[in-house]
Amino acid sequence: QTVAVLSGGPSAEREVSLSTGRECANALRRAGFEVIEVALAADAGASLQGRLAEAQPDVVFNALHGRWGEDGCVQGLLEWLGLPYTHSGVLASALAMDKTRAKAAFRAAGLPVVESVIAPAHEIASRHVLPPPYVVKPNAEGSSVGVHIVRERSNGFAPVAGATAPLMVETYVPGRELTVAVLGDRALGVTEILTNGWYDYDAKYAPGGSRHVCPADIPADIAALCADYALRAHRALGCRGLSRTDFRWDDARGSDGLILLEINTQPGMTPTSLAPEQAAAAGMDFPALCRWIVEDALC
Ligand code: DAL
Ligand code: MG
Repeated sequence: QTVAVLSGGPSAEREVSLSTGRECANALRRAGFEVIEVALAADAGASLQGRLAEAQPDVVFNALHGRWGEDGCVQGLLEWLGLPYTHSGVLASALAMDKTRAKAAFRAAGLPVVESVIAPAHEIASRHVLPPPYVVKPNAEGSSVGVHIVRERSNGFAPVAGATAPLMVETYVPGRELTVAVLGDRALGVTEILTNGWYDYDAKYAPGGSRHVCPADIPADIAALCADYALRAHRALGCRGLSRTDFRWDDARGSDGLILLEINTQPGMTPTSLAPEQAAAAGMDFPALCRWIVEDALC
């Protein structure tokens, strides 16, 4: 079977996607698939259909992250072309990429999330729209791009000139950084991420930028709760294949201190990424993980 691996594209996570794409393409070759790498230029929108017509794949492996690739847009095109593709479909992708709407769905499913509001950048820069500490993040972005933490009285938030994307202001959640990958109907495990500062873009992708403890050294009841919440989040949005749900856990507060931050429908598969590590710890190496994802897309 021929698999087209889509990567790159115009989003702020373009470089991350190129890395995910390379890793997955290599793993799929090791798993015995015929692989065509479709690394998209930053302005590739119009040529995508042509590239796919040329490649004639049986299935598309979506290794895109961020805008266009993770928000339902490319999924809609692939539906329209009648091509099977990996990971979540149109609606789940669009919902997950919109942090505020995803949070509304999580709240409705009884999952613990924290307060947040959408506000224009100039308003956030001029007054506290929530009591500090809080986090300002683009409502639809990944990899911590554009995230700003306001800890004290001084705001210190400077809007990017000309930027119009909606911003979300979210109550700062203290605690340990935990994450759970879900593969189909199975939570793979819990990883704790240890960093010197916070888990920003550099800590995510620079080798040695963070340390991952998998399985996390946490009580069994908290690990079970993480797995339960991650599965319920995956189902609440109707995700498919692989997803990864991120948490903060304030260990002084026991199970009440576990907060769901967000779900990622296109989790990173780079050499420093979390989902492949968790799969490996669960006994599934990288080629087997990629094979599972492709076979799931075909059934
Ligand atoms: N947004 C990055 C790719 C992740 O969630 O892994
Ligand atoms: Mg994310």
